[in-house]
Amino acid sequence: MLSCIQPTGEVHLGNYLGALRTWVGGQHENDVFHGIVDLHALTVTETPGVLGDNTLSLAAMLFAVGLDPDVATIFVQSHIAAHSQLAWIMECTVSYGELSRMTQFKDKAAKREADFVSAGLFTYPALQAADILLYDAQEVPVGDDQRQHIEITRDIAVRFNHRFGDTFVLPKAVTPKAGARVMDLQNPENKMSTSASGDGGIVYLLDEPTVIERKFKRAVTDSGSEVVYDRTAKPGVANLLDILAAATNTTPEKAAESFTQYGALKSATGAAVVEMLSPIRKRVLELMNDRAELARLIRRGDERAEAVASATLARAHRAIGVLPR
Ligand code: TYM
Repeated sequence: MLSCIQPTGEVHLGNYLGALRTWVGGQHENDVFHGIVDLHALTVTETPGVLGDNTLSLAAMLFAVGLDPDVATIFVQSHIAAHSQLAWIMECTVSYGELSRMTQFKDKAAKREADFVSAGLFTYPALQAADILLYDAQEVPVGDDQRQHIEITRDIAVRFNHRFGDTFVLPKAVTPKAGARVMDLQNPENKMSTSASGDGGIVYLLDEPTVIERKFKRAVTDSGSEVVYDRTAKPGVANLLDILAAATNTTPEKAAESFTQYGALKSATGAAVVEMLSPIRKRVLELMNDRAELARLIRRGDERAEAVASATLARAHRAIGVLPR
């Protein structure tokens, strides 16, 4: 099992419910690899000095949510040269047309229309394919928004195997039942994302409890007053029910049965999220006080990842038939 996250800023509730929680749940049944993908973040990072700090605090967050360094391999993408090396081969195995159809590229390029749109933003899925295929991942636990990237990875692997012989394992995306697509509390038509214009609709894992409660109290709901789970007719209410269901391990339909008013639903969801996040917040603050220990844990993960990744890269080189050095 492999999945990765970009160090682009603070981790939010969408990241947690869509991905991180599944990572923690899967770590004892699977051989798991999780990368902090700083090279992916480079597609939109231009300020010097921030990437390393963001990487370290994201590592603290990954351990704080419950990934156990004894069983889960947490590594930093730029520390493992094989990612960049295989990415080039992936770029030569995916077509311009396929990359042009990626909705994430279209969205991000449109949002950055006044900014620099790097070629890396366009070829981003080739690097992601390298991340996944290097670890022979069968399952990739992600939120809904990453499904298209896992599908293109599968297409790339099929094409490579067809051209050069069986080399890569074909991966599939795994998404959680509730929380695969957490929406912005202020704008429930859009997914919760740090690239949103304001942060009133984004719940960060490190937000103070009072801030979380306030964000839920101010959440945008829909016309009418009945609490029913209907993503199309009532996107705001449906989002709250999804979050509440994910936080309390039930289904959104069942969660709806307990409420007759929007106000009560908002307070209950806020309270459930505060309860779920409080221990994480406490643990992150402790971990950030011991940066040397964090660096040690990352080194350990890097070493384990390096061994697997370099062997797969060598296998790909052999399959292609590049001249051995
Ligand atoms: P990233 O860093 O944007 O997000 C990390 C994970 O959080 C999930 N997620 C959400 N889930 C539910 N609701 C939301 N509102 C929400 N927002 C984010 C994402 O689906 C993701 O699982 N391209 C990837 C990083 C990546 C990767 C990989 C993932 C690079 N290489 C290899 C898997 C395998 C990304 O930008 O995720």
